[in-house]
Amino acid sequence: MISVKKLYKSFGDTEVLKDINFDVKRGEVVSFIGPSGSGKSTLLRCLIDLEEINSGKVTADSSPLFQDDINITREKRREVLSQMGIVFQSFNLFPHMTVLENITMPLITVDGWKREEAKREAVRLLEVVGLSDKADSYPRELSGGQKQRVAIARALAKNPKILLFDEPTSALDPEMVKEVLNVISSLKDLDITMLIVSHEMEFIKQVSDRVFFMEEGRILASGSPNSLFKDAESERVTQFLNCLNF
Ligand SMILES: Nc1ncnc2c1ncn2[C@@H]1O[C@H](COP(=O)(O)OP(=O)(O)O)[C@@H](O)[C@H]1O
Ligand SMILES: [Mg+2]
Repeated sequence: MISVKKLYKSFGDTEVLKDINFDVKRGEVVSFIGPSGSGKSTLLRCLIDLEEINSGKVTADSSPLFQDDINITREKRREVLSQMGIVFQSFNLFPHMTVLENITMPLITVDGWKREEAKREAVRLLEVVGLSDKADSYPRELSGGQKQRVAIARALAKNPKILLFDEPTSALDPEMVKEVLNVISSLKDLDITMLIVSHEMEFIKQVSDRVFFMEEGRILASGSPNSLFKDAESERVTQFLNCLNF
């Protein structure tokens, strides 16, 4: 579903992603862990076209998104990108729109859905994330956990094949982390391929098929949660997990 080969990314003179290589199968859940500044967010942003890639090759659902020396047209990229969604740490909801409008607006204005059709879909998705009673509320009337569940519903609205999560619970008070993680776990049944950046190790262990450890712009180690968490070959991984008391 996703293939990344020899991906490099710099900001000015600073190389932040160096020779990143991995493949993700359809329906697979892959998590990225590692210290702050190791390039996790930049990697996700490169995959979804929010950052420009310097070199390498990225393919999503068998269509190229970026390839050295080949000009992939905007239209072609947009087609692939429309099947991908991202959920950020900071929710990014529109404050002047209701919960329902936050979900329907992109469908109507960007994807040309009819209002009624978009509304039906939004109502269905609010049920999926357990917020049917909040359709007419404004974001300011919601808790952080509820806002993030709306953001997840909005990301699901395009029926994406691939969902990226960048520290989806880092901005939440501890008592709200679980409700959001439960919603993300429930998406596993929908056969969505997920790439998750998080520091919630217990959650990562439960939800992930594979875990990648990043440091200084490289994937230093990877494996099943058990192999990485239990008998990490890399001393650096063990050290990192110890820091998190895991
Ligand atoms: N827009 C940017 N301009 C310049 N440097 C950036 C930018 N975004 C990220 N960086 C740098 O890239 C490196 C990786 O950052 P990031 O991908 O946010 O790491 P992580 O998500 O693992 O904490 C850091 O050194 C960061 O300072
Ligand atoms: Mg980050």
